[in-house]
Amino acid sequence: MVSDNNITLRKDVAVKAALEAGEMLKKNFGHVTDIKTKSDRNLVSDLDLKADEIITRVIEEKFESDNILSEEKPIPELEAGFTWIIDPIDGTHNYIRNIAIFGVSIGIAYDDKVVAGVIYMPTTNELYWAQRDKGAYCNDKRIRVSQRDIRQATIFFDSGIRYEPDAILKSLGSLADKVFNVRMLGSTVRGLTYIAEGKAELEVEYTDQVWDYAAGLHIIEEAGGRVTDFKGNEWNINTKEYIASNGVIHDEVLNTLNDNK
Ligand code: IPD
Ligand code: CA
Ligand code: CA
Repeated sequence: MVSDNNITLRKDVAVKAALEAGEMLKKNFGHVTDIKTKSDRNLVSDLDLKADEIITRVIEEKFESDNILSEEKPIPELEAGFTWIIDPIDGTHNYIRNIAIFGVSIGIAYDDKVVAGVIYMPTTNELYWAQRDKGAYCNDKRIRVSQRDIRQATIFFDSGIRYEPDAILKSLGSLADKVFNVRMLGSTVRGLTYIAEGKAELEVEYTDQVWDYAAGLHIIEEAGGRVTDFKGNEWNINTKEYIASNGVIHDEVLNTLNDNK
């Protein structure tokens, strides 16, 4: 098993990289100059690429032979060992429209299991991190999930509704009927960090990629929450659909989603 020390060294570098990229994004907020279309309704800006360059440079200075998997680079063949999982801006479409809900996300996996995660929310100066068996923190203060039940729950729901509208809207309707309220933020990491610190109770995602969730799901688990796929199985870096919760409401959400399939 990989040692704590090897994880801590990398977590510290992830913090440095996220802060450096995040400060650049904050300084340039409102000044996107170049936007390209990656696919239908999927944009990337010059600042996503600049943030990616900063993060990659900081990592490679110290851990040149680790794998790097970034949303903004071609997917590499992954070797065994450490993989850095990078989303330079989670919430790109918010960022492009000057909506200040976005974050920098860096997960660190050993083989297919995430062992540390760092998320920086530049506009609110919140730095979240977690490391295997060491708990979850925001600006070095320990954070924990809430104990709210389903009736009191604030939930975040997938923003990829257009990919499977019938099934997803049916699930949304059934959950909306049970919970306190539903939000869609346009940034997975914003939702996941709110759950980890007990401000909200659930995120349901159908179409996320590993760079959207690697750091955030680890932070939720270290904050005492629960994460599974829709069948209740453990997650890893190959998971597609997942629910992440405060734990209290998890089984009821799973049952509701599966009753509606
Ligand atoms: C997206 C956001 C969005 C989520 C999408 C992601 P991006 O990431 O996190 O909230 O629903 O699935 O792709 O493109 O802004 O990095
Ligand atoms: Ca993302
Ligand atoms: Ca992104």
